[in-house]
Amino acid sequence: MKILLLGSGGREHALAKKISESYHCNALFIAPGNTGTEKYGTNLPIATNDFNAIQSFCIKENIDILVVGPEEPLVQGIYDFMQATDETGAKYWDGIVVGPSKKAAQLEGSKEFSKKFMQRHNIPTAAYKSFTAENYEEGKAYIKQHSLPIVLKADGLAAGKGVVICHNHPTALSVFENMIQNAQFGTASQKVVIEEFLSGIELSVFVITNGVDYQIIGHAKDYKRIGEGDTGLNTGGMGCISPVPFVDEAFMQTIETTIIQPTIQGLQKEHLEYNGFIFFGLIKVGNKPYVIEYNCRLGDPETEVVIPRLQTDLVALFAAMHNGTLADVNINIDNRAAATIVAVSGGYPGTFEKHKPIYGLNTLPLSNNVTIYHAGTTTLQNQIVTNGGRVLAVTAMAPQLQEAIQLAKHTLSTISFDNMYYRKDIGYEFL
Ligand code: AMP
Ligand code: GLY
Repeated sequence: MKILLLGSGGREHALAKKISESYHCNALFIAPGNTGTEKYGTNLPIATNDFNAIQSFCIKENIDILVVGPEEPLVQGIYDFMQATDETGAKYWDGIVVGPSKKAAQLEGSKEFSKKFMQRHNIPTAAYKSFTAENYEEGKAYIKQHSLPIVLKADGLAAGKGVVICHNHPTALSVFENMIQNAQFGTASQKVVIEEFLSGIELSVFVITNGVDYQIIGHAKDYKRIGEGDTGLNTGGMGCISPVPFVDEAFMQTIETTIIQPTIQGLQKEHLEYNGFIFFGLIKVGNKPYVIEYNCRLGDPETEVVIPRLQTDLVALFAAMHNGTLADVNINIDNRAAATIVAVSGGYPGTFEKHKPIYGLNTLPLSNNVTIYHAGTTTLQNQIVTNGGRVLAVTAMAPQLQEAIQLAKHTLSTISFDNMYYRKDIGYEFL
């Protein structure tokens, strides 16, 4: 099969590697890809939001499967766009899109949509109310009487920055004002979801579904804050581990019965077309899992630990999703632990400089159990240089989590670029 993968991060590098290893993959293209994905396929100078160019390429090259990495094209409706037909009802392109329909992608694209969905299907989540400019005064009154901390969320996509946890009422009121009156997150904060703060430990679970059947392909814990000890600003993710030591069979069973199954049944009841991954962002409060958020794609850097552990052929999994045989697939997961540590450009998640030469990538990895995933890199005059905030994600696998973390750290100590930074405490709670 011929496959086109959209995206350019560490997630896409990990997916490109796994797809290229598939027995069923004859050709792989990545749009736009990065220096890491080049090794596994052909990078194309096509942006992930250029739906016309993506469709033309799929038609011209007879692409069988389009795998969508990031959320923006999904929320903007690439799934529906690719199903378009001519006047006779014939599809322009007759392949498989791995991703949800535009309507179903609202589970990530609108916090209010996902909250209402969870309420309709009795899926445990924090209590909430939502407000716009129209009931702004009511919103202020709601905040003033709300318990602390209080969580304010821009309804739409805000590149991971739209959630603010406030520890006093004046701050919450000013964040609310900025979001609604000053359009802090543009149209994304025209509506604000205000919710109760849940105190617990976070984890995420990854599922592939066709809206009827599903398979759990792994779970992980990500480290979102820039600073060690989970301090400082939120980032896209500074590191990740899988499996998560406190997740046992009984807890996973609870997640399945109280969250995953009602979600899939909800999709079915509401005729929300879904043929892709669901990322359940969860928090364990006491012994009970709650949903913090849904994402309609895999996570980054979660993919860099979940996908290397997945032993089932990924392309066969996509085909099974499409053919309705997902329930019959055996999911095999490597029982070793995986840890990934992300090296970022100094200054991230604020401003940072690009195009710094990266040294140490040409020396052989310290072990076969290490993979250096490129997240934000490019090649200039034959030199691999930084090209983003998150630059590399170094994944190591070992029988014990502690060894995997040590191996990832040791590998990072042999790589350098100007102003490189990474957290040295990934997985600290479990060591
Ligand atoms: P999100 O952008 O939705 O992933 O939210 C960012 C982070 O905010 C989450 O990973 C949590 O750490 C935190 N968060 C969001 N909602 C809540 C909540 N209701 N209670 C506690 N923490 C939350
Ligand atoms: N690492 C969090 C995300 O991909 O949304």
